[in-house]
Amino acid sequence: MLDTRSFPIGDPILEVNNISLSFGGVKAITDTSFKVLQHEIKAIIGPNGAGKSSLLNCINGIYKPQEGSIAFKGRKLEKITPKLIAEEGISRTFQNLALFKRMSVLDNILVGRKLHMHANFLSVAFQMPSARTEEQANLERCEEIVEFLEVQDIMHTPVGKLPYGLQKKVELGRALATEAQVLLLDEPMAGMNVEEKREMCRFILKVNDELGTTMVLIEHDMGVVMDISDNVVVLDYGKIIADGPPDEVRANQDVIDAYLGVAHD
Ligand SMILES: Nc1ncnc2c1ncn2[C@@H]1O[C@H](COP(=O)(O)OP(=O)(O)OP(=O)(O)O)[C@@H](O)[C@H]1O
Ligand SMILES: [Mg+2]
Repeated sequence: MLDTRSFPIGDPILEVNNISLSFGGVKAITDTSFKVLQHEIKAIIGPNGAGKSSLLNCINGIYKPQEGSIAFKGRKLEKITPKLIAEEGISRTFQNLALFKRMSVLDNILVGRKLHMHANFLSVAFQMPSARTEEQANLERCEEIVEFLEVQDIMHTPVGKLPYGLQKKVELGRALATEAQVLLLDEPMAGMNVEEKREMCRFILKVNDELGTTMVLIEHDMGVVMDISDNVVVLDYGKIIADGPPDEVRANQDVIDAYLGVAHD
């Protein structure tokens, strides 16, 4: 089949090598390794409590695995801080909405630009020309994102007044505003109805296709996973039990057992 993607899938952009993470006695992740290729959409699936969110939190530096390492573009991320990760070009959305409800759609997206603001506090406070220019550029970029996400008509509406599906879209917009090369999406479609899910899928594919952004997404809806992902990694009890294209993973006996709740030894 001819590959018609604007950004063909490339070399690994993210490599997770043998990481283990535990909380006290609870082993959330055990000796886990996988790669994310540039420009791909990679899904992470698995039963509740399998360690999916913990894995994303290790990649973005919120949790520090006791063992193993993570490399971004072939370079080991040494002391992982969320700030470093953001500067390196990895951004995320959360399983539970983390938006400023009283602020407008545009202002919430502008929050994502903060990482790109170089002007210091004083030059902003005194309205120095450099700060003004940067602010103007940030505003313009956010307006482009508003257009890209087709939310012009609600850009000045407080986020708390919007239906859930639109709020999740704003969260995606804020992640886009960081201009990350890799987006980590923790259940971007949780709690959505069919229509909202379809809309979110359309935008995830649009971001991947038009901006070339690599996506790592946790999702429970198998239909969605099969439809939009290039590769799927399956976690069960903190371990990877399958990693490959959706069709292959769906036919994997270990995956079927994990989802059917076969007893574990
Ligand atoms: N901050 C924490 N402190 C203690 N235990 C934690 C913490 N975060 C996660 N865990 C534990 O680690 C394990 C994996 O949790 P995690 O949230 O990563 O799973 P998940 O696959 O994202 O589940 P879900 O599908 O319910 O979101 C669980 O046993 C959970 O209770
Ligand atoms: Mg989770």
